[in-house]
Amino acid sequence: MDPKTLYRRKLLSIPDAVALVQSRQIIGAAMAAAEPTGLLSALDSQAERVEDVTVCVCLPLRQYDFILKPEMAGHFYVENWFYGAPDRQVHPQGRVSYIPNNLHQAASAKLHATRNHLDIFFGTVTPPDRHGYMSLGLSLVIERQLMAAADLVILEVNERIPWTLGDTQVHISEVSHVVESAIPPYELPSAAADETDRLIGGYIAELIEDGATIQLGIGGIPNAITAFLMERHDLGVHTEMFTTGMVDLYEAGVITNRRKTLWPGKMVGAFALGTQKLYDFIDRNLAVEFQQGRVTNDPYVIGKNYKMVSVNTALQVDVYGQICSQSIGPRHFSGTGGQLDTHRGAQLSAGGRGIIALRSTAKNGAISTIVPMLTPGAEVTVPSQDVDTIVTEYGVAELRGRSVRERLKALTAIAHPDFRGWLQEEAERLGIVPSLPWLRHAGQGVMVQGGIVCP
Ligand code: COA
Repeated sequence: MDPKTLYRRKLLSIPDAVALVQSRQIIGAAMAAAEPTGLLSALDSQAERVEDVTVCVCLPLRQYDFILKPEMAGHFYVENWFYGAPDRQVHPQGRVSYIPNNLHQAASAKLHATRNHLDIFFGTVTPPDRHGYMSLGLSLVIERQLMAAADLVILEVNERIPWTLGDTQVHISEVSHVVESAIPPYELPSAAADETDRLIGGYIAELIEDGATIQLGIGGIPNAITAFLMERHDLGVHTEMFTTGMVDLYEAGVITNRRKTLWPGKMVGAFALGTQKLYDFIDRNLAVEFQQGRVTNDPYVIGKNYKMVSVNTALQVDVYGQICSQSIGPRHFSGTGGQLDTHRGAQLSAGGRGIIALRSTAKNGAISTIVPMLTPGAEVTVPSQDVDTIVTEYGVAELRGRSVRERLKALTAIAHPDFRGWLQEEAERLGIVPSLPWLRHAGQGVMVQGGIVCP
């Protein structure tokens, strides 16, 4: 059958498509800026008809009633491996729960738990070309695997979705139904860097050599450092998330991908989240390669890049070097995402480095983010045995292969000056390091660059 006829036969209205949902089904949805906004916005309309429907999402960006409305209890339950603002809000009401995992395993881990089966997959695609092929557009992290496992595949066709290249093509014959929508994809504005971001960005830029391949994570700091990389030459990109800052670096001739050892000449990633500038840039751009998250984030794949540098951010680090990036104490905040994948992968690379950058304080300077021990209940995102390089506005601490005593010194030197004495005293009081005066001064200043030497 010709693709146009096939498309017309599969076309449903959004209300008719959500009316296919049945009680006790499991639905998987495309993530982040690829979220099927029309379908997810209409899901709550089925609440009176269905019970116990589980919707598996990741980083929902818009305010969906099926997540937010208290009366959805008993009708829709949300499972999410990376919380956004709505999930944090609803979590105390018990209608959303976190799925711990690593990005490269996210789809398979979820499918393992459902015996490799989903009832429905909701995704987004571009309109089809004349051969009936569509592009999965803004995310390929989990979408292809979830699609393959679903009985019913319903895709939201939207002209505003960029046609991305790589492993993104889906044929209309692979789809159960299509619906149409014209809602623009969510835009994440680039936050302006403040003085602290600028200091951190400067230190990180010193750690990224010409010819390196970079991954930049989610959050204010990774975004802010792009401005500091403008003096570098021939950088490459192997990331999970394409960002607007990467477009600035590409247009400035800093990112050329010329010296990459894996996918030379191409920026490689699994999803895009940024402004319209980014979405225009990735549209039919042969320099941009989308691959599934199980490929981009496999640490052994990442490690094949020469001089791979990952830059992620965190909420807390303790003197052992345990990194918490996903919870504030026991209160779940976001998710592991690909932080551990990329941090490990960078260290497997020849000349590579895993960087965790964070401000030395939070809550307007009231608390130190470098702590003697993580707040009870905090989730560990990067274990101490995997940690590599920590950066704050006070400098760089290299922890890899160092003892806890040396880690304490290095981290104290990059902690905010108001908390340095407290860190040492607490580490001694808790017995993490012995309280011996000569030990305090042994080896001071080693492996700290830029930072003020530990008193
Ligand atoms: N104790 C208590 N609260 C803290 C804190 C601490 N140590 N550190 C930060 N906070 C608070 C901030 O004050 C802020 O609160 P607010 O929302 O009320 O303003 C909130 O936590 C978020 O901090 P912020 O620095 O604005 O976060 P961010 O947007 O830069 O994101 C992470 C930082 C760590 C949450 C984010 O990068 C993340 O989720 N990472 C994990 C996943 C990852 O890195 N994946 C790989 C790349 S995609």
